[in-house]
Amino acid sequence: MDLRVQQASVTEIDTPLLVVSVFEGESQPSGATAAVDAALGGQISRLIAAGEISGEPASVTVIHNNASPGLKAQRVAVVGLGKPAELEVENVRVAAALAARKARDLKLDSFASVVHGAGNGGLSLEDAARATMESSILALYRYEQFKEATKSRHEVSSGIVLAPDAESARQFEQIAELARITCDAMMHVRDLSVGPGNFVTPGYLAEQARDIARKFGLEITVWGKDELRAHGMNAILAVNQGSSQPPAFVALKYVAPGISKTLAVVGKGITFDSGGISIKPADGMEYMRHDMTGAATVLGFVQLAAAGKLPVSVLGVFAATENLPSGAAYKPGDVFKAYNGKTMEIVNTDAEGRVILSDSLAYAAEQKPDAIIDFATLTGACQVALGDHATGLMSNNQTLATQLLAAGEKSGDRCWQLPLWKVYGEQIKTAMADVRNTGGRRAGAITAGMFLKEFVGDVPWVHLDIAGTAYADSDQTYVAPYNPKPGATGVGIRLLWHFCQAWKDA
Ligand code: BES
Ligand code: MN
Ligand code: ZN
Repeated sequence: MDLRVQQASVTEIDTPLLVVSVFEGESQPSGATAAVDAALGGQISRLIAAGEISGEPASVTVIHNNASPGLKAQRVAVVGLGKPAELEVENVRVAAALAARKARDLKLDSFASVVHGAGNGGLSLEDAARATMESSILALYRYEQFKEATKSRHEVSSGIVLAPDAESARQFEQIAELARITCDAMMHVRDLSVGPGNFVTPGYLAEQARDIARKFGLEITVWGKDELRAHGMNAILAVNQGSSQPPAFVALKYVAPGISKTLAVVGKGITFDSGGISIKPADGMEYMRHDMTGAATVLGFVQLAAAGKLPVSVLGVFAATENLPSGAAYKPGDVFKAYNGKTMEIVNTDAEGRVILSDSLAYAAEQKPDAIIDFATLTGACQVALGDHATGLMSNNQTLATQLLAAGEKSGDRCWQLPLWKVYGEQIKTAMADVRNTGGRRAGAITAGMFLKEFVGDVPWVHLDIAGTAYADSDQTYVAPYNPKPGATGVGIRLLWHFCQAWKDA
């Protein structure tokens, strides 16, 4: 969908669907909604009085304009924002998403929306505008690349955000540009994440990285098997042993104009995780095609950084491979030496994410960035602990951890911290090597984090376990209307953007 900003009043805009909002507990609509109400001869206030329009969050009411002379819109959608004092940006995201979906359900070609909620509950105009815009785009995302005969036909072609005057039109246009590139990056992550494993292969991810490098003129390094061997990245090679798809290691750098900090973003790129010799049960195994979402997040964020001229340099790093069983596959009991010289005993080949991340993190740390943030669909344990609505956060640096937690609140990509106390390290000790790749069932997300910590040296680092937040499967009880169900969310992109904006001068 094409997002446009237009300077026009709600009563003058000629559109198949005009979207306005109301608050819960208000008997009279205010602002732009009051103008529409007046043009409709008080129909909105009558529906409020009748209890048909409640203003509750996630409510949508469509009213047809029966040729009212003061209103050009053919229909009006009234979305609820909840109580004004309790307004959160999430209510705006949900309202905008539901309105966009309503336009699609009604098979309309376009809709026009006001910016919802600005000035209430402490919500700034900028945050309200950005939420309205991003959700309108994200809600209409669909992955139908491999659907032929059963493709859903109707697409909304344009969404218009109304600006009341020239000054706000200029401001909205800037916000719209940021919203477009942010959503492009997120939808790229979604496409890669949900894309089938026989299509989104390690080679395909490397090709995507090359495309981004070409488009924005970025420095890129791509290593295959030979270079991985030459550089001692034996952990990535170990996981790749069972696969007939060659592995790929990618380092991609966006350099910010002027002097800036450098953030390394590292991702897990398992294009299919069968578990390997420690094979997973068949039920739901198809979802393990999304086990490369960390790598996709790296690509999406480098793309956004370059497109948006982020004032922070970004080094994107990921290793990609399948994890499959075969006569050549790595086995429980095997020992490998990673890029930083540390050795690991493999106890369970299904704990493969931390194995490939060891080489990638050690490489990133060697480049001496100011911080490292990694993204990985790492543990079922994290999904069990936090469910679908929080990313697991672990760190060796509390200042950095706190900055990311704050960015999580601001962006909506909320994170929750788990401890990396030294005592948890006992669980990954072994007589066979420096460390072993599982620490038993207890504290599974944390022991995975303790393993990763061995490979970042003293660089400030945050590990984000997105096993629960990367993907909304059909079992998930609540899926926000700006996310596909089922499908990938694009979590982490807005988190990193907000984090960098605050971190650049912290
Ligand atoms: N990719 C999985 C983790 C996962 C599970 C992601 C569910 C998303 C949804 C990971 O490689 C894995 O298999 N982890 C094991 C670790 C265990 C063997 C120590 C797990 O969580 O069971
Ligand atoms: Mn696994
Ligand atoms: Zn995995």
